[in-house]
Amino acid sequence: MLITIQEAVKRLADGKLVAIPTETVYGLAADARNAKAIQKVFETKGRPAKNPLIVHLPNTEALSLWATKIPESAYQCAQHFWPGPLTLILPKHPSVFPSITAQQDTIACRVPNHPLTLKLLANLNRALVAPSANPYGYLSPTTAEHVEQCFGDEVPVVDGGACSVGIESTILSLIDKPTILRQGMISAQQLSDILGLPVTTATHSDLLTPGSDLHHYAPHKPLYLVDTKDLSQQVSRLKKNKSVSVLCYQSTSIENCIKMPIDPREYAKTLYEKLHQLDASPTDCIIVESPPLEDPWLAIVDRLQRASAPLP
Ligand code: TXA
Ligand code: MG
Repeated sequence: MLITIQEAVKRLADGKLVAIPTETVYGLAADARNAKAIQKVFETKGRPAKNPLIVHLPNTEALSLWATKIPESAYQCAQHFWPGPLTLILPKHPSVFPSITAQQDTIACRVPNHPLTLKLLANLNRALVAPSANPYGYLSPTTAEHVEQCFGDEVPVVDGGACSVGIESTILSLIDKPTILRQGMISAQQLSDILGLPVTTATHSDLLTPGSDLHHYAPHKPLYLVDTKDLSQQVSRLKKNKSVSVLCYQSTSIENCIKMPIDPREYAKTLYEKLHQLDASPTDCIIVESPPLEDPWLAIVDRLQRASAPLP
């Protein structure tokens, strides 16, 4: 069910859930000052309570209501990248419900860059918790249709069209030295350039980060991530007893392959859409030719690695 911004504002103020568009993926939103509504988010997603939520703010000024001891580096990042696909981890304000942060003393905040959601946040004049609007572990939604496929009429959606970035925000912790906890289309190099400091990327996080689960962002069908040099051989092998769909990055030798954009931003924008399509198609499995493991492809390869099953 699609609803207008006015209807969404009313539902959210009444403690109900609404799916909202952002530039990254659609979010399953609830009033961040309503404990029951927050609880509903966890239940609807089937999300473990130990996985904290991102608070979506109308603007940078609202940050001091949610975080405390905010370092100058947070404002530098906000100035350059907000509204935009960057989530900052900061010490949490004492007024924040513990369910949002999974009892931790840090909080994740971002100002999303989508005109409808910025309007909604301004009209509502509150912050929203919003995890990706998909059942826990599944592919994130990048269209209103994807959300409807997951939740039907249970969650009304504000339709903001296809997401312009297409994969989840970069998560940067500013608790200690700047560290990326989840890669996104804003890279370590871009952040380092703004901060004038090295920015490291956590390879495996001992923080409570579902994006760091081994299997996450995954279609229901098996997805195999294969290097270019092994592609033809693996496709022929799997094709012997399965129907196979192939997303190609550069190979031209695979019959009926789906050619992905060569530009990483275009690739990210279309990736989940293609995976949703293939997951709903009759194909038995999905093979993805791996893009290079280098900037600016790192976030894309990270999602594909998490979505992929080991080869049989
Ligand atoms: O692009 C996005 O970030 C999207 C859109 C809707 O804004 N949201 C999103 O939310 O991807 P979700 O819940 O699917 O992923 C949020 C990530 C999780 O990996 C969670 O563990 C991490 O943020 N996170 C939240 N609070 C945290 C905290 N205090 N410390 C470390 N990680 C945190
Ligand atoms: Mg998610």
